[in-house]
Amino acid sequence: MCGIIGYIGRRNASQIVLEGLKHLEYRGYDSVGFAGVLNSKLVIKKDVGKVDEVHARLNFLEYNLKLAIGHTRWATHGRVTRTNAHPHTDCNKRIAIVHNGIIDNYEELKKELISKGHKFRSGTDSEVVAHLIEENLVDGKSFEEACFNAFKRLEGAYAILAIKNDEYEIVAIKKGSPLVIGVADHGSFVASDIPAFLNYTKKVVYLYDYDMVFLKPEPVFYNIGNGVMLKVERPIQSVEWDAEKARKGDFEHFMLKEIMEQVDTVQRAVAQDKRILEKIVGEIRRAKGVFLVGCGSSYHACLTASYVFSKVAKEHVNVILASEFPNYEHFLTEKTLIIAVSQSGETYDVLEAIRAGKKRGSKIISIVNVMGSSLVRESDASLLMHAGPEICVLSTKTYTSQIALLNLLAYTLSDKYEEGKRRLKYLWNVIYYLTSANTRNKIRKLAEKLLDKQHIFCIGRGLQYPTAMEAALKIKEASYIHAEAFAGGELKHGTIALIEEGTPCIVFVSEENAKEILSNAIEVKSRGGYVIGISPVNSEVFDFWIKVPECGTENPIVQIIPIQILAYQLAVLRGYDPDKPRNLAKSVTVK
Ligand code: AGP
Ligand code: GLU
Repeated sequence: MCGIIGYIGRRNASQIVLEGLKHLEYRGYDSVGFAGVLNSKLVIKKDVGKVDEVHARLNFLEYNLKLAIGHTRWATHGRVTRTNAHPHTDCNKRIAIVHNGIIDNYEELKKELISKGHKFRSGTDSEVVAHLIEENLVDGKSFEEACFNAFKRLEGAYAILAIKNDEYEIVAIKKGSPLVIGVADHGSFVASDIPAFLNYTKKVVYLYDYDMVFLKPEPVFYNIGNGVMLKVERPIQSVEWDAEKARKGDFEHFMLKEIMEQVDTVQRAVAQDKRILEKIVGEIRRAKGVFLVGCGSSYHACLTASYVFSKVAKEHVNVILASEFPNYEHFLTEKTLIIAVSQSGETYDVLEAIRAGKKRGSKIISIVNVMGSSLVRESDASLLMHAGPEICVLSTKTYTSQIALLNLLAYTLSDKYEEGKRRLKYLWNVIYYLTSANTRNKIRKLAEKLLDKQHIFCIGRGLQYPTAMEAALKIKEASYIHAEAFAGGELKHGTIALIEEGTPCIVFVSEENAKEILSNAIEVKSRGGYVIGISPVNSEVFDFWIKVPECGTENPIVQIIPIQILAYQLAVLRGYDPDKPRNLAKSVTVK
């Protein structure tokens, strides 16, 4: 979950890497580091803190270098300290590496290297890579051969960049963690994600697992998946995103910008090639067992879809948290269909789940936002959300895009494609109203009331239950206020004991279960709770009402929007950065 970037070419590599680190900070930001080559020596600067803080202390721009690599860390092995920050070097500081992922066999490798006299400085798994390359720089082996022999020993997930003090070259390897190449007339880029270099080029090369790239500065591509260095060709593609879209525009935070974009992104999500939808629907019909798999908000989208598939298409689908998938793998056969939902397409748990499915011959369909991501490349077919880059760590527009796409699939499955398209197109007006300044101002008043609360409860029934779960997650992630979701019918089985005078409870109401959920609201109210209604109509039980027009199976798309705005406003009022919440990273590319 960290971000790595490298540049080699005629431009100022220090400047390019510093800018790239800023664009990658959403992937992890507990410490930052930089390494370059100057007069056959390694220049290394690293420390704990965010990019701006560390740059202010160490000045990454001290030297105008032609080759540099950088890293923003989200620690997995080894505490957040300066020593554990990347880059890591070999014993003699001739080799520097940056790494995203987890080296599963690092303890065994470290023990072997120590027995050969290597001295380790850090407590990370990543440092073994530098010493392993050093160990292989023997018998006149080139830097490239040493890297190849070292990489072959690694197990786990890794995207690695390696440089050497006397080489004008960056060596890169990708396996299980994201890595993409950027190509410009003045030089080459390699990074965890496209926004890192999008200001310089739109020409990208997507990599496959076990791709090893020598940037000299022209990139030369090999694949080492079979234990040999096999030269391969990789096509240069143009990305549709422009730098502008990946920037905030005139919004204070990406989160608000991306919430506001939902007027368009829901429409873009459903602008799909009908033939692909029908192909996927054919797979669903043929399958003996359909598994929807995701994490976090994407899991909530899967849960929502299970209700819609049941109601609209009378199709039973299993919904499994990706991290819990190993407990169900024995059910998978070549007739199973796995639908993996992931914004980043790099979530480790999701990739592990589909790989387990592929081992058993199951078909893999994915719903992803990032073209060229590992999940897209490893799926039999993918539907892209076309939501554009989602920079805020919290998923907002991609969550509603996922639901829109899954709804359209359910309608297509029940031979009601046109009805599905029509229902989703109609949402434009509702989302426009929900994201208007008027509505946002009203929600701000609610945020001011909830600002100092310790606990917020969210309840819903039917389709509104996964919406309540997503609402609770948004509030927690953005404002750090404890929030919890319950199916309305579960309140009386224990949770109602927690309701005290003034305890806020957000109630999601739809026409189909208004009576039952409102009686839950009355139970909360009679114990002193403060009831917030997300509802098409007002009710005397509400202390605060946010009007959300009834949209039936599309309620999960519209009802979450006021809570996204509420979570955003709570974060800002409480002085937090909603784009980069503490302890979180945009893409969880480690176990
Ligand atoms: C969303 O607000 C969260 N930050 C997180 O739960 C996210 O949804 C989850 O990590 C899954 O990410 P993915 O969609 O990229 O797989
Ligand atoms: N496992 C490495 C570390 O803990 C890299 C972590 C990451 O990918 O952020 O330093």
